[in-house]
Amino acid sequence: MTIKPLIILPDPLLREVSKPIETVDAELLKLADDMLETMYDAPGIGLAAIQIGVARRLLVIDVAREDEPKAPMVFINPEIVRSSDERSVYEEGCLSIPDYYAEVERPAAVTVKHIGRDGKEHLVEADGLLATCLQHEIDHLNGVLFIDYISRLKREMVIRKFTKASKGKAV
Ligand code: NI
Repeated sequence: MTIKPLIILPDPLLREVSKPIETVDAELLKLADDMLETMYDAPGIGLAAIQIGVARRLLVIDVAREDEPKAPMVFINPEIVRSSDERSVYEEGCLSIPDYYAEVERPAAVTVKHIGRDGKEHLVEADGLLATCLQHEIDHLNGVLFIDYISRLKREMVIRKFTKASKGKAV
C-alpha cells in the first residue's frame, strides 16, 4: 500500500465531478487500499478518490473510535437513495482543507446504495457520524465541499487564505 499526496484547496480538481466505475478489479482494490493507507496516515475518517487526484466514484471511510479496532469501509459508485427529514449538526473538517472546521447541518440519517469490494451491490443505513461522513464524501464525488454550506463571507475567507498559502509554496 502506498501513501498518496493529498489535493488541497484551491486545487480545481476538487470541483471536478468524478466518473462512475465500470469494473471492480485488482487495480481498483489497490487504489482503495492506497486511499485507506493515505486516510489513516493523515489521519482522517473519510477520503474520496478525487482527493488524491483520481476522478472516479470511490470512497473509503473508517468511523471507528480510537479505542476500537479499525473498521475500513469501501464504497464504489455510492448513491444516496433516502435521506431523513430529521437533521443534525456536526463540526466538519476535510483533509483537503487542513485545520479548518465548521458546523454543517445535514440529514441525520441516509440510506446509501453502493458496490462493495466484493463487486456486489449493497445498501447501508447510516446515522450519526457515518451518515455525516458519507454525505461529506459523496459531495466530493460531485465537486462539492463542506465550505459550500457555510456563509459566503466565511467561505471566501477560507478560500483566500488557502490561495495565499498555495502561492507561497515552492513548486
Ligand atoms: Ni473532505
